[in-house]
Amino acid sequence: MLWSRRNLHLCSSLSSLSSTAGLLFFIPLVLISSVACILGPAKSFLSFSSPFAWRSAGLYGYYSQISINEEFKYNYLKREGEVPSSHMIRNGSLNQTVVLKDPTDHQPAHEAKEVSGNAIINRYSKLERLETMLSKARNSIRKAAENGSMTSKHEDAGYVPHGPMYRSANAFHRSYLEMEKNFKVYVYQEGEPPIFHDGPCRSIYSTEGRFIHEMEMGNFYRTKNPDEALVYFLPFSVVAMVQYLYEPGGHDRLAIGHTLADYIGLIAGKHPFWNRSLGADHFMLSCHDWGPYSTTYVPQLFNNSIRVLCNANTSEGFNPLKDVSLPEIHLRTGEITGLIGGPSPSRRSILAFFAGRLHGHIRYLLLEQWKEKDQDVQVYDNLPAGVSYESMLRKSRFCLSPSGYEVASPRVVEAIYAECIPVLISDSYVPPFSDVLNWKSFSVEVAVKDIPNIKKILMNISQTQYIRMHRRLKQVQRHFVINGPPKRFDLFHMIMHSIWLRRLNIQIED
Ligand SMILES: *[C@@H]1O[C@H](CO)[C@@H](O)[C@H](O)[C@H]1NC(C)=O
Ligand SMILES: *[C@@H]1O[C@H](CO)[C@@H](O)[C@H](O)[C@H]1NC(C)=O
Ligand SMILES: *[C@@H]1O[C@H](CO)[C@@H](O)[C@H](O)[C@H]1NC(C)=O
Ligand SMILES: *[C@@H]1O[C@H](CO)[C@@H](O)[C@H](O)[C@H]1NC(C)=O
Ligand SMILES: *[C@@H]1O[C@H](CO)[C@@H](O)[C@H](O)[C@H]1NC(C)=O
Ligand SMILES: *[C@@H]1O[C@H](CO)[C@@H](O)[C@H](O)[C@H]1NC(C)=O
Ligand SMILES: *[C@@H]1O[C@H](CO)[C@@H](O)[C@H](O)[C@H]1NC(C)=O
Repeated sequence: MLWSRRNLHLCSSLSSLSSTAGLLFFIPLVLISSVACILGPAKSFLSFSSPFAWRSAGLYGYYSQISINEEFKYNYLKREGEVPSSHMIRNGSLNQTVVLKDPTDHQPAHEAKEVSGNAIINRYSKLERLETMLSKARNSIRKAAENGSMTSKHEDAGYVPHGPMYRSANAFHRSYLEMEKNFKVYVYQEGEPPIFHDGPCRSIYSTEGRFIHEMEMGNFYRTKNPDEALVYFLPFSVVAMVQYLYEPGGHDRLAIGHTLADYIGLIAGKHPFWNRSLGADHFMLSCHDWGPYSTTYVPQLFNNSIRVLCNANTSEGFNPLKDVSLPEIHLRTGEITGLIGGPSPSRRSILAFFAGRLHGHIRYLLLEQWKEKDQDVQVYDNLPAGVSYESMLRKSRFCLSPSGYEVASPRVVEAIYAECIPVLISDSYVPPFSDVLNWKSFSVEVAVKDIPNIKKILMNISQTQYIRMHRRLKQVQRHFVINGPPKRFDLFHMIMHSIWLRRLNIQIED
């Protein structure tokens, strides 16, 4: 197991520890995890006494209880679900979408009356207040969507979204401002690092660790008062679980599933919020390929919760209505300085470029078709010695981003950073922020069956069209940039905004 742990640069330790210190730091973890492998995994990481801890009978008993409850409770949970969330913020037609019952049109169904001294006060529950606020936010976003779309009409000292890269710049901006004003996240405190409250800050899984770390620091959106939260964050790292609970080469991923099931069991038993919504206002986040799979161990997490996933494969249950597509960003050193920017279109001599190992069938088709075939479409499994990957991104007009073992590819954001137009080649992939961004305006989508036609398709894009796309790409770049600390409209806030939209999409009653 050591081989992989070496590469796990936890966010909490990254900035302060040299590599030697890092090694010392990991030794106790190795001991803990070998004990854990024998005793059953999560015991060392979950600081609670779950009544069901590591007795599988208890575990499954627990879930059959929940499912009886589920049918009953589901009537109270209103997800107006027929329209994909990609339509949520769209050109003037919010009309037919998210919008739920409008609490401003009627009194709350059950008004508790409370006698306090001589006065009779109408007391709405905290949840009703929150839902009323959400309803107002929905209405103002809808109005903004109806009132023109290309340019935001809202004042903003910082950035004003505009242009065809947005489905509706005006609605997005309104929604973003509503989020800044109202969005509050509660982070559950249960569980111990590194599996909980921490994650990788480097590697292709860096977006997982960065986000968890940011929430832990709590400088944005976080509330310590769970009663005023709109969503509840489950701060576990699937990457860390794979590294600490899974034996490489083994086939048994049960330890991960059991840890998750126990953890959710604990959360549901100890706090009222999970049962209230059956998990629908809770979210998890993972960039690991197994992120989606791990959630299958808790049916309500899989079916109800907001799952923020790099592996946003609709053929594996990714539901854009409630789940969020998370960008995959390969931070080799942990730094993004130097990665951003590239030459103008006229200084890009290669039509299309790809370099990457053979993972999955799409890349197989790509390499088979194009490797060493054409100087215009340069496709490599290994770059020739002395050729730098980054310089190739900067020399190319289009950067091919085929799915690998999972649908997401770090190449999409690498291309966006290097100002090379990404060419998405995937099946069943929902690109990040599709609810807000109009990907067609700054990227090219090529169906897997059209891999042989890549050159024709790209040559067919006129110079004028290319320059337009390139300009738009530079404008959306800000939404993919990782800043420490986060800046408005950057990656962190865009992920938050996606979660905010999913929360707007449901209404929860006590
Ligand atoms: C928005 O709607 C207008 C009028 O209905 C249409 O002309 C325009 O193309 C739409 N824009 C987008 C980005 O869909
Ligand atoms: C809005 O919804 C109503 C009722 O469903 C429908 O009649 C109307 O055409 C819709 N308007 C737009 C702009 O989609
Ligand atoms: C629509 O936008 C204009 C500015 O272009 C603004 O004056 C007006 O108040 C807006 N209307 C609504 C209903 O928001
Ligand atoms: C939530 O529901 C489960 C299963 O019905 C139950 O065991 C648990 O005690 C409930 N949690 C709370 C806080 O009531
Ligand atoms: C999600 O819900 C469906 C329908 O109730 C059910 O068949 C399925 O097993 C659930 N998925 C998981 C992973 O539990
Ligand atoms: C997406 O999911 C389907 C169904 O499990 C699978 O066949 C396909 O390979 C997945 N796509 C990728 C790129 O992994
Ligand atoms: C080239 O573009 C034209 C119009 O822009 C389109 O009709 C045609 O199908 C395209 N050809 C290819 C091979 O994509």
